[in-house]
Amino acid sequence: MTPLAAILARRIRATGPMTLADYMAECLLHPQHGYYGAQEPFGAAGDFTTAPEISQMFGEMIGLCLAQAWDDQGRPAMFTLAELGPGRGTLMADVLRATRGVAGFHEAARLHLVEASARLRAVQRAALAGHPAHWHDDMGTLPDGPLYLIANEFFDALPIRQFRRDTAGWQERVVGLRDGRLTLGLTAPAPLAALAHRRADTSPGDIVEYCPAAAPIIAAIAARIARHGGGALIVDYGSGPSLGDTFQAIRDHAPDDVLAHPGQADLTAHVDFVELARAARRRQRGYARRAPRRVRSLNGWASPPAPAPLPAI
Ligand SMILES: C[S@@+](CC[C@H](N)C(=O)[O-])C[C@H]1O[C@@H](n2cnc3c(N)ncnc32)[C@H](O)[C@@H]1O
Repeated sequence: MTPLAAILARRIRATGPMTLADYMAECLLHPQHGYYGAQEPFGAAGDFTTAPEISQMFGEMIGLCLAQAWDDQGRPAMFTLAELGPGRGTLMADVLRATRGVAGFHEAARLHLVEASARLRAVQRAALAGHPAHWHDDMGTLPDGPLYLIANEFFDALPIRQFRRDTAGWQERVVGLRDGRLTLGLTAPAPLAALAHRRADTSPGDIVEYCPAAAPIIAAIAARIARHGGGALIVDYGSGPSLGDTFQAIRDHAPDDVLAHPGQADLTAHVDFVELARAARRRQRGYARRAPRRVRSLNGWASPPAPAPLPAI
C-alpha cells in the first residue's frame, strides 16, 4: 500500500466512498504524496513521454502557429503568452526559440504559466531562464488582454467523474473499501439533470465521463479571447461526446491498475472535446448578449448522493 493509499483508506472509513474526481485529484495533486509533486513523470526514467519531449519540432510548429495568429490579428502591442501545465517547460522553450526571429513578438509577449506542482515550477524556471515569467495556480489570475494560450496533455490530467446509465437514472462510480483495500463501486441510481442531454445518445449500461474543472477553464479562455482577441491551441487525447470508460493509470511506461499505486502512477482520462467546444461556445454567445461576469468554479454539478453500500461492478 502506498502512503497515499493509507491516507485515502482512512478518509473513506471516516466519510464514505469518494468520487473518481476526488480520488484523481488527491492522487495527482496531494500536497505531500501527489504524483506531480513527488514523482518524476517524464522521459525514459519516468512513466511516460510527451510530444515536446520527443521532438523540438512540436513546440517550434506551435510557436510559429501562435506568431502567425498574432500577426493575423494586427500584432497586439502587449499580450499574454500562456501555457497550462507546462511540465518540464520544454514546449514553451521551443516556442520561444522558434519565435525569436519574429520581429516584435517577444517584446510584446508576457509569459504566464499555470502549474500546480511546486517541483515542476522550479524545473520550468530553469528551462526558461532568461525569459521573465509569472506562475499561477489557475486561470483566474491571468492578466486581462489578448491571450495566446497553449495546453498539451493538460486537460487529460483534470479529474473526471464517471456515471453508468441505469434504467432508473445514473449511478456514479466511486472509490470505496473492501477488506481494507481500495475498490471501485457504484452509488444507487438517481436522476441527474446535468446528464439529461445524454439520454438521447446512450443506452442502459453505458458509461459517460464528465470533467467538472474543464468547462470553467475553457469558459475563462473563451471569455478572454472573445473580449480581447487571441487564440488557444489545445492538444490532447480524446474525442467526444464521452462514451465508455477511459479512466487509466500509467506507470513505468505501461498500463497500471487505477487503484494499485495512488500517488505513484499517472492518472488520466480522454478529453471530451465536444463538451469543451460546447463550454467555449456557451461562453462566447454569452458575451455577445451580456456584460462579463465571474466564472463559477464548479459547473452546477451536485455532489454525489450520500454513500450507499458498494455493489460490485
Ligand atoms: C501530462 S503533464 C504535461 C506536461 C507538458 N504539457 C508536456 O506536454 O510535456 C501535465 C501537466 O499539468 C500540470 N497539472 C496537472 N493538473 C493541474 C492542475 N489542476 N492545475 C495546474 N497544473 C496542473 C502537471 O503538473 C504537469 O505539468
